[in-house]
Order: sequence, then C-alpha cells, then structure tokens
Amino acid sequence: MCGIVGYIGEQQAYPILIKGLHRLEYRGYDSAGVSMITSQQALNVYKATGKVSALEEKCSAEDTTGTIGIAHTRWATHGEPNTVNAHPHRSQSGNLSLVHNGIIENYKTLRAMLEKEGYTFHSDTDTEVLVQLIEYTQKSNKCDLFTAVQRALKNVVGAYAIAILEREYPDRIVCARKGSPLVIGVGTDAHGKKEFYIGSDATPIIEYTNQVIYLKDEEIALMTRQSDLPEIINLANVHQTPEMHTLRLSLDELEKGGYPHFMLKEIWEQPNALRTCIRGRIHVQAKDVLLSGIVDHKERFLNARRIIICACGTSWHSALIGKYFIEEAAHIPVEVEYASEFRYRNPVIYPDDIVIAVSQSGETADTLAAIQLAEQKGAFLYGICNVIGSSIARATHSGTYIHVGPEIGVASTKAFTGQVVTLCLLGLAIAKVKRTLSDEMFHTLVDELQTIPDKIQWTLEHNKDIDKFAQMFTYCRNFLFLGRGYNYPVALEGALKLKEISYIHAEGYPAAEMKHGPIALVDEEMPCVFIAPKRGMYDKVVSNIQEIKSRKGKIISVVTEGDKTVSDMSDYTFVIPDTRDCFVPLLAVIPLQLLSYYVATAKGRNVDQPRNLAKSVTVE
Ligand code: G6P
Repeated sequence: MCGIVGYIGEQQAYPILIKGLHRLEYRGYDSAGVSMITSQQALNVYKATGKVSALEEKCSAEDTTGTIGIAHTRWATHGEPNTVNAHPHRSQSGNLSLVHNGIIENYKTLRAMLEKEGYTFHSDTDTEVLVQLIEYTQKSNKCDLFTAVQRALKNVVGAYAIAILEREYPDRIVCARKGSPLVIGVGTDAHGKKEFYIGSDATPIIEYTNQVIYLKDEEIALMTRQSDLPEIINLANVHQTPEMHTLRLSLDELEKGGYPHFMLKEIWEQPNALRTCIRGRIHVQAKDVLLSGIVDHKERFLNARRIIICACGTSWHSALIGKYFIEEAAHIPVEVEYASEFRYRNPVIYPDDIVIAVSQSGETADTLAAIQLAEQKGAFLYGICNVIGSSIARATHSGTYIHVGPEIGVASTKAFTGQVVTLCLLGLAIAKVKRTLSDEMFHTLVDELQTIPDKIQWTLEHNKDIDKFAQMFTYCRNFLFLGRGYNYPVALEGALKLKEISYIHAEGYPAAEMKHGPIALVDEEMPCVFIAPKRGMYDKVVSNIQEIKSRKGKIISVVTEGDKTVSDMSDYTFVIPDTRDCFVPLLAVIPLQLLSYYVATAKGRNVDQPRNLAKSVTVE
C-alpha cells in the first residue's frame, strides 16, 4: 500500500521520481505527490488526486527543478483520497516534507499532544502527525534531523516507511522503516559521484543501479551528498553497517512488452515463468526434486506433525491446492489459515509444526504478523514468496522463491500458478524425504509436472476466442464458479479474479455445496462456470451441471480436450489438455483468468489497477 520514491544526487530529481511513481503505482493510485528542494532552497510540494498522470499534468506548470526530492503514490487509509490528504505532508514551519507508507496507530494521542503544543493540522492523516512530531522533537531537542527522526520514532506505535526532506539542508534525505518495506539504491553518476535512490521496492531503482540496501525494521538512514554510503542507526541507538545486495531484476521484466495490460502479459508469461520456477529444482536424470530450503532442514520436515499455511487473497487459494497435494503426497495434515484471522486468535502451535507463509509480494502485513506470532510460539517458518529479499522472505527460517518474475497487474495470475507449482514441488520433496510415495508414482508426478508449462501454452492458444464472447457477459450481475476436489480452490480463484477486475459479483463454491443455498440464485440470467475435467468426480460434476441446467442456468465449462458429454450440456466450453487431477488447477485457471480479463476490458475497467485494490497490502 502506497509507494515511496526518493532521490539525492546531481541529476534532476523530478523525472526520476515520476518514473518511479509510475512503477510503484500498483501499490496504490488514489492520489500522488512530489516534493523537491530547488537551488534557491525552496521546498516545493505538489499533489493531485487520482493517478500519477494527474500529478504530472499539474506539475507541468510548476517549478519542478532540484536535485533532491521525494514522492508518493497513495492508497488511502486515514482520510479520503483528496489533495489535502495526499503526501508529501509539510511540517508546521514548512521546513520539512515527508512521505509515509504504513499506519501510525497512536496518531490520535500524538496529535492531541502536539495540538497542546500549538501545532495545527490540515489533513485527516496519521502522516501529518508524524512530520509534526519530527519537527517538534527537532525543535525541543535542538538536534539535527537524523537524531530527531530517531527520537520521534521511539514514541510511534505502528508501521512506517518514511522519507523526509529538510529545506535548510538540501544535501540530505533521512528515511526509516518499521513494518513497511524500504530499499535504498546506491548508484554512481557520470562524474563518479555517489547518488542515492529510495523505493518501496526495487522497481523504481533498477534502471539506475543494481546495488541496494534493504533497510531493516527500526532502522533510520541518512544519505548526504558527501557520503559514499548511508549512515544507519537503529531505534536502540546502535550504528549498523549497511549490507549491500546485488539485484537480479531486469528492466525488460518491468515493461509491458507490447501487451495492452500487464495482466495479459503476465497471463501469457505463465509457461516461461513456470519453466523458470521448475528449473534447477527437478533433477531430470535422477528424477528427483531438490529444494534447498528443505535439504537444509530435512529433520524438521521428516518429523513435522502438522503444516499450517497462512496467506491472503489469491495466495490463500493456492495454499488450499497445496494442502490437498501435500496431504495426498506427503501424508502430513495441512491447515490453511487466513493470516488476518490466525494472527488474532490464540492458535495452538506445537514446536514440531511447520508454518508456511505464501505471499507473492512478501510484504502482506497480515501474513507477516501471522508468522511472527507463530515464531513466538516456537514454530519453524517457511516462506513461499516471489519478491526476492521481501520482508516475509527475510523473516522466515527457510523457504523457496517462486521465481516467476515481477507481477505488476494487481490481479494475481502468474504468481498463483507459480505458488501452486512451488507447493507441489514442496509436497514432492517432503514425500521423498518421508518416502510416502512409491518410486513409480513419484516419477510419474515429476514427469507430469514438467509437461505443465507446455500444456499451459496449449491452453492459452486454444482459448484465444474468449475475447469474442466475453462481451456477452458484461451485463451479468452475478456469476457462480463451481468445482470439486482440487478444482474447488480454482472455482474460488475464478470468482475472485472476476470480481476484482470486472466488479461483477461472483462466488466460488464446491460444486456439491451449491444445492445447500446458492442454487436458489440460479435462473436464466445466472452464468455458472463449472470446472469439469474428465478426471476424478467427473460423473458427480456432470450431475451438478444437470441440476443447474434444469433450472435454466447458463453453463460455461472448462473441459478436457475431446470431452463430449459436458460440452454438449454447456452453452460455452473452454478446453484444457488432460493431466493428473492434482495438476488440473494449473490448466483450468488459465481460461478463467482470460475470461475475467476480457469481461473486464469489455466493460472498460482498468484491469491493472482496479478500484479500491492494491497489489501489496502492507496495512492490516
Ligand atoms: C492483495 C492483492 C491480491 C493478493 C493479496 C495477497 O489483495 O490484490 O492479488 O492475492 O493481496 O498478497 P500476497 O502478496 O501476500 O500474495
């Protein structure tokens, strides 16, 4: 939620900040703002509601010069998305400007205290409290900004990633983090001088440098024009040595590559993304699965009494598929928990439990809090993330990256299939350690998993005409998605995708549960999407389709290539190649992603940035 960019160096800051905001727009896009210090030492702040392009338009008539600046794209938490609430916020004297991602939980108490001290507020945000608190601390302690930020943050409860400018000192930026991510890029300009970039993630930085420092929780960093590295101190007053990391992200991966939307690009990227996800993990000759995250903790997995998977949104759906697979292959009971619920219960956790966090971004606040709770209770933590170096990846004891490349579209597609493949690899690797599968079955599954990228390619190519009939569904108000076994989570995911980007109400159900309530909704206006591969429970799904048909519901089905029975019963069919039951979700979800995409674009929706959503939910 919310994206932060910052720059200090010899180049003009504004173009770097704007480009960075565009790259971070997936994190929030209800308003945006920039602040630069000019060569005449003016601290300019410009803000606009709506997307970054609105800010650019506004700034075209303004003085945007300056070689130091900060910028922000917002996903509103406190106060509606308007210009006053947009960041950057200024301090009372106008000497400081600040951008913030996160939530300050004790902002009301702090605000009351500051009001007593004569501070006045213009916005409804918790962020304005923060900038005033820093100025108040600086004045009352007569200290420099770096020290003031550190002292002020000791009184703050909540999550923050912040960057601050000080008008009187145009040679420095201070930033800090706790709970919300912040990355510092260290570059070298054309004259060999160091320059610093700040980003909520590495995407605004990669164009300029691949050398980054991931700021850790409770760390405050000072970047000046005179220094080669940031100076870092933590809230406990201990100086920290900056740890440099080299990014392995390419700029091409961040561009649309000729597709009209990131979402469509990411749907089509799935065959290659999954090849990368599998590569190096399946040992072809030995027909073995090698996950370093497990190899180093073999005993843990051998003796695990239970696995608990915590996740949110689409990641929760992939976790459900993982549960079915791990239970079947490795005979360990698996519970799948909504991270937001888990963290506020007093869950029973045994020391021999393994808690897995599944998260594309690796930054979801609820998931992070859930594993922190599990750790306090003694669990071993395993992370399945996409973003390298993300908070969850760093907070877990071990883990596996899904390696599907950056996912920019807010609606998750390739991360979902990447997570499912990774959970299957994990299930196979545990099964190998525990010897719960026969060699024959193990090899069959490993062989079949390797065919999945080609089969997804086939599915994409054989469902190209979805765009033509998607038009017909734009007037629907409701959709039902139904599946059984491994395909029940696919039904949930199909429904979520459609509602996220088209704003059509959709529900996913286990197909047999439909007669316990949802069937009351069915009439000639209700499209029902059945995932009906010619595999286990096929006959039972056929009966469920019959029940809908006799109530005049419209049937859309995902069927195995060559299927006649369900195709004949359906108004529309999408074909997928045959595969084993456990891998059907990886194919069946493809037409559902395309269906959502084309219905949403036919309705004129912004599929990459749907209303009210954000890619990375770093607030609870
Ligand atoms: C947001 C996104 C979803 C995503 C969920 C969990 O709601 O819009 O697409 O599934 O967060 O995110 P994570 O990064 O933890 O997988």
